[in-house]
Amino acid sequence: MSTTQSSDTEAPIEETAQVEVPAQYRRSAAPAALKMIIELKNVTKTFTRGSETLTVLDGLTLDVPEGSFEALMGPSGSGKSTLLNLIAGLDRPTSGAAQVAGADLMKMSDGDLATFRSRHIGFIFQAYNLMPVLTALENVELPLLLTKVSSSERRKRAQTALRVVGLEDRMGHYPRQLSGGQEQRVAIARAIVNDPTIIVADEPTGDLDRKAADDILTLLTKLNTEFKKTILMVTHDPAAAERATMTRHLDKGKLGA
Ligand SMILES: Nc1ncnc2c1ncn2[C@@H]1O[C@H](COP(=O)(O)OP(=O)(O)OP(=O)(O)O)[C@@H](O)[C@H]1O
Ligand SMILES: [Mg+2]
Repeated sequence: MSTTQSSDTEAPIEETAQVEVPAQYRRSAAPAALKMIIELKNVTKTFTRGSETLTVLDGLTLDVPEGSFEALMGPSGSGKSTLLNLIAGLDRPTSGAAQVAGADLMKMSDGDLATFRSRHIGFIFQAYNLMPVLTALENVELPLLLTKVSSSERRKRAQTALRVVGLEDRMGHYPRQLSGGQEQRVAIARAIVNDPTIIVADEPTGDLDRKAADDILTLLTKLNTEFKKTILMVTHDPAAAERATMTRHLDKGKLGA
């Protein structure tokens, strides 16, 4: 597996006595141990169309320590989004073993997966995917409609999330009244409003200029270092990958060089 590590950011990593730390995570020569929050073993994903079977993930093994901020790169069609969707519980592996945030994704019903997503996953998309007819605040409240949280508590949590992303003065704005960077901040507020364990971001800066992209990456770094979120980010942008603590490369459904 090929890895790189940026020098300026270091994810706070909870150290427990369970698993040996991969060399790239060691801060010093002293041996330590990490808790893995994502553990995939020999995962395959195939899609069948008619008589054709397409193998998109091909025996993939991946361990992500809790509290890390990892970038995932690779050519178009290499399976990056497919992999993120599996980790987020939006789809299931065809075979293999998949543990995410203590849940066995292979054994869960559709209902269990929905509960898993709302409890553990915040998803950020390249195209923001905001509802145009809802204000920023209403967009951020959306994931909480699936929970038992009261409407006043819902509003309070959405306001807090928008404050975290620096948009306290744009809560009543509609997406069309926001810049792309601001729209992505609303989408990030929506992703964190449930206080998820893991944030998965699929090319979150793909539609933004350098300045707006850097602001989003700074925000993701803050969510990682201050709010202790584990982040997995797909990107085509080497400058974005630099902001992560580690970069993995996917090619033809396999992790490697
Ligand atoms: N639901 C699906 N049904 C059939 N084929 C699919 C499905 N989802 C993805 N694929 C195929 O799987 C392959 C990998 O797609 P994926 O979206 O994971 O690539 P990617 O690495 O995210 O690419 P990009 O960088 O362009 O976003 C592609 O060949 C795609 O056509
Ligand atoms: Mg993709």
